[in-house]
Amino acid sequence: MTIIVTGGAGFIGSNFIFHMLGAHPDYRIVCLDKLTYAGNLSTLAPVMDNPNFRFVKADICDREALDRLFEEEHPDMVVNFAAESHVDRSIEDPGIFLQTNIMGTAALMDACRKYGIQRYHQVSTDEVYGDLPLDRPDLFFTEETPIHTSSPYSSSKAGADLLVLAYHRTYGLPVSISRCSNNYGPYHFPEKLIPLMIANCLNDKPLPVYGEGLNVRDWLYVEDHCRAIDLIIHKGRVGEVYNVGGHNEMRNIDIVKLICKALGKSESLITYVTDRKGHDMRYAIDPAKIHRELGWLPETKFEDGIKKTIDWYLTHREWWETIISGEYQDYYEKMYANR
Ligand code: NAD
Ligand code: DAU
Repeated sequence: MTIIVTGGAGFIGSNFIFHMLGAHPDYRIVCLDKLTYAGNLSTLAPVMDNPNFRFVKADICDREALDRLFEEEHPDMVVNFAAESHVDRSIEDPGIFLQTNIMGTAALMDACRKYGIQRYHQVSTDEVYGDLPLDRPDLFFTEETPIHTSSPYSSSKAGADLLVLAYHRTYGLPVSISRCSNNYGPYHFPEKLIPLMIANCLNDKPLPVYGEGLNVRDWLYVEDHCRAIDLIIHKGRVGEVYNVGGHNEMRNIDIVKLICKALGKSESLITYVTDRKGHDMRYAIDPAKIHRELGWLPETKFEDGIKKTIDWYLTHREWWETIISGEYQDYYEKMYANR
């Protein structure tokens, strides 16, 4: 079995590669990644010498590069993690989100059609469903919830999902889609809430909470997401969407306070800043379908996962300090200076 994993030098893709090489030692895993600001080759150092692993630097929009790779590798499956993934960046500059997330998905699926594939899996997001009101804790996103996006990022992901389903119906491409809630864990890029707050706490920098910090996210430890995708590509039904989430809703402000406490830092570091434009209030996944059909359940409780995550950032300072001392500084300045 040969699987092309796109975006494998990023947060979830790298964790998925580690998971797959461990869980399926006879599989060949080929990582295709453009190495954008969010991709980090050093993350993949532990598997670079594994004979079952290959890294290829390429853009999923580059059809010639895809042709070459498919001719060389004859993949049985493609799992597409490659994307521009940060909502705030999409609000500043939507173009690259449309290019990578929509056009890149189309290019990958065209290669799958041309060369044949057992499964094309699209790693999507719960953000395609928009948001839920805070005063209706009884509501959850199911796979039947209408697509109703808020940001250029989520719109580009929704556009990609619609294309994936269209390629299934029109061309019979054997596809599946997973829509997961917020992940956290090792190798999470420090522009995102949890790693940003950990890094800023450790550097005694202000902790920028958008609005009043009352927005709710449904947090899932990254390894649980990786196990879900592993199950879907092997046992999930072709043409289906599977929601992935662990009923672990938390307000942003509570997460930030928890990180302060875990690191022994004062809550006086918390700084309320101008809210994100179009900020989604609440995400909450109903994972009944993946549980019923595939037996998936999250295994990591939030209290254990967040402890493991904080410990990882404490013991891997070089990984994130290298990132935040580079071009990330310009991004941070631009995004947070006058907020
Ligand atoms: P990330 O930003 O950490 O990593 C993205 C990776 O894709 C990077 O390695 C980057 O170099 C690569 N990439 C970007 N553009 C590319 C291109 N044109 N060609 C090839 N490679 C390219 O993202 P992440 O948080 O790991 O998210 C991975 C996927 O999971 C995304 O599709 C995202 O929409 C989805 N997702 C993320 C979350 C989350 O909480 N992070 C939750 C649900 C779904
Ligand atoms: O739900 C899945 C999605 O989760 C994925 O599709 C996205 O790729 C991923 O980035 C994530 O999106 P969010 O916008 O929910 O994640 P982020 O970490 O950017 O923000 C989480 C919450 O924290 C959100 O309500 C905004 C808030 N926030 C974020 C940052 C970066 C802050 O209050 N301050 C911050 O500095």
